[in-house]
Amino acid sequence: MLDKLIKKTLGELAKINSLEELQDLEVKILGRKGALTNHLRGIKDVPGEEKKAYGENANKAKKTLEEAFDQKKSELKEAALNSQLTTENFDLSEPGIKPEIGHIHPLSKVQWEVENIFSQMGFSIMDGPEVESEYYNFEGLNIPKHHPARDMQDTFFLDKEADKKHGRLVLRTHTSPVQIRTMEKYGAPLRIIIPGRVFRYEATDASHDTTFDQVEGMLIDKDISLSHLKGILQEFLTRLFQKEVKVRLRPGYFPFVEPGLEVDFSCLLCGGEGCRVCKNTGWLEFMGAGMIHKNVLKAGGVDPKKYQGWAFGFGLTRLVMMRYGIDDIRLLKSADPRFLTQF
Ligand code: DAH
Repeated sequence: MLDKLIKKTLGELAKINSLEELQDLEVKILGRKGALTNHLRGIKDVPGEEKKAYGENANKAKKTLEEAFDQKKSELKEAALNSQLTTENFDLSEPGIKPEIGHIHPLSKVQWEVENIFSQMGFSIMDGPEVESEYYNFEGLNIPKHHPARDMQDTFFLDKEADKKHGRLVLRTHTSPVQIRTMEKYGAPLRIIIPGRVFRYEATDASHDTTFDQVEGMLIDKDISLSHLKGILQEFLTRLFQKEVKVRLRPGYFPFVEPGLEVDFSCLLCGGEGCRVCKNTGWLEFMGAGMIHKNVLKAGGVDPKKYQGWAFGFGLTRLVMMRYGIDDIRLLKSADPRFLTQF
């Protein structure tokens, strides 16, 4: 009886072509009410001395059938996978699709380089608010109301006042306000740089954008002169561009410094000989700088009789454009992968 059941089941198993059919048969034989299960239950009616043999045979049969079902199950699964591979035309030897991963934006990359170089020279990195008050953006920096220098930087005003003393809120037009904030907070001596985003109310074109990045620098201590500035800048630029760079100081005007300077560095392409990039001058305009005006030190709570210092501010955006030969400033904030994936 058991042999017949095994033979019949194996015969049916051989004809099965799908996992569904296999499951149906499995239920019919091995399920709770299946044929073999019923047979096993029959043990209770078997006389005592035959119970042992009956049980052993039934368990052996169960094991044989279970193995046969498992075997068939893996055959069917493999066949299903194979047919899926053929119908989907899946070529295991084909190279995979590379996942697209992002990378550091050129602005951040150069900012980090600048931060590293200045950190190595003992400067701390400071930060300040992008929404400033008129006081920090102008008055504290020795740019009083109605001073024509306010027109140098076209400003986005917010429709809100900070408070009576600090005046209206503005989007900061430069990173210089953080000079005052840092002096107020830490006093002198100080050695800091302030990278950050600034905003100007400006018509955009290839070299102007309403948002760009600057790096402010400031050093305050005893017996500080412009020769320290020149030395630091020369060292900074030489490390940044990894070649000997010369620095030139020219007189310039900014209300928050006295004397004020324009700083140029020797052309990276021709080294000073004169070429298309430097318009045959041998020099590239780089930034504004100067000895910090005593009114600015006072605004920051630093005593100008004890301390003096210099400050500078350059366009990080322009530096990035120079470094990579980017000819349109608007590309930098465009988030356009056609542009960004080139770096
Ligand atoms: N804040 C100036 C600007 O945005 C740049 C500048 C000039 C910063 C001279 C300075 C400085 O610290 O001393 O045009």
